[in-house]
Amino acid sequence: MRLVRSAVQAAALANVPKHIDHFSKFSPSPLSMKQFLDFGSTNACERTSFVFLRQELPVRLSNIMKEINLLPECLLTTPSVQLVHQWYCQSLLEILEFLDKNADDQEVLERFVEVLESIRNRHNEVVPTMAQGVIEYKDTFGQYDPVTDHNMQYFLDRFYTSRISIRMLINQHTLVFSGTTNPAHPNTIGCIDSMCDVTEVVRDAYDSAKMLCEQYYLGAPELELREVNANSPQQPLYISYIPSHLYHMLFELFKNAMRATIETHEASRSLPPVRVLVSLGQEDLSIRMSDRGGGVPFRKTERLFSYMYSTAPRPSIEDKHRAPLAGFGYGLPLSRLYARYFQGDLQLYSMEGHGTDAVIHLKALSTDSVERLPVFNKSALRHYKLTLEADDWCTPSREPLDLAVHRTTK
Ligand SMILES: Nc1ncnc2c1ncn2[C@@H]1O[C@H](COP(=O)(O)OP(=O)(O)OP(=O)(O)O)[C@@H](O)[C@H]1O
Ligand SMILES: [Mg+2]
Repeated sequence: MRLVRSAVQAAALANVPKHIDHFSKFSPSPLSMKQFLDFGSTNACERTSFVFLRQELPVRLSNIMKEINLLPECLLTTPSVQLVHQWYCQSLLEILEFLDKNADDQEVLERFVEVLESIRNRHNEVVPTMAQGVIEYKDTFGQYDPVTDHNMQYFLDRFYTSRISIRMLINQHTLVFSGTTNPAHPNTIGCIDSMCDVTEVVRDAYDSAKMLCEQYYLGAPELELREVNANSPQQPLYISYIPSHLYHMLFELFKNAMRATIETHEASRSLPPVRVLVSLGQEDLSIRMSDRGGGVPFRKTERLFSYMYSTAPRPSIEDKHRAPLAGFGYGLPLSRLYARYFQGDLQLYSMEGHGTDAVIHLKALSTDSVERLPVFNKSALRHYKLTLEADDWCTPSREPLDLAVHRTTK
């Protein structure tokens, strides 16, 4: 019996590349926050959602699986990346089982929710596992060459964005149709809060980062919070957003700001506060977090968004119970992806010697917040085929040269 089952499974797995080829021919369909909200509130229909997801999830999974296959061989074959790849194949197959099922059968709909929940759990550890793959690669092959570095960055940005979007779809479906409401947040539809209180999320994220910081350093900088609502000055700042995404970004920024502040002011008796300004205009909701943690040289700013770079000691992947204040170096790059996912952005303006301003820009209107999704096509393929060409700007030499002696030749 077991043998038969594993033979069936092997046959199904052998068909995966064919399915990926088929579904990656379709482009993902980005949804707006307004569509998510409307769908979840007024005309929530489990059947419609089921029919949409059984096509859209394989499309999103297949588009990104095409790109996994383009990773450099030496990375693709690391045990961690193989494991992630297996999870993706398995989840794709599980969803495809519903393609020929009757959408009017309540049992099918219930089973679908269960399968989505188990897929979500299966993929819980994708980020640390992928990070581990990058480390395994680095340990085996040493530092990256610039082409691999570029490919990895390009791929991981798209891979993690795709993952965020797939989890968003799964969460909306399972939360909206499980019938549970959150009494603390009556305006919540699935994981979206149509009246997300931004300053409340700022305070929550600050409190958690502060607790972590105090455990580590036995102290933490204070928070100074200011808000400007240009639309209606006396009103609190509300937008339609996913509180957990906003919290994630702010928590990461607070951890960085606190670590920098404390390490720069180790010798002094008082710590300068972390200042946060939240401002709502017609188009944007912006959050600026300013620290006086000594800043970073301008030359290094872009590198801080690299998945291959962190100044913190490497945490242990096994040690799941200890939340490190700084770890894989994924805080900034992942937070930027969360911001960009709904057409926002996250930028750092640092002044070396003084401190850093991190600014999150989000869309104030739910009609402007539309999913930003990767699609596998010729332009994407071209990125992976990039070769190391000569730079079309002169590279300055490291040492001041005696110009009379050194002449640059092509
Ligand atoms: N506010 C800041 N002031 C000074 N340096 C900063 C600041 N924010 C980030 N950095 C630098 O950028 C690096 C990358 O930050 P990032 O949050 O992405 O990773 P990390 O903090 O090292 O690890 P983690 O994954 O736990 O966040 C940090 O290691 C730190 O050197
Ligand atoms: Mg960090």
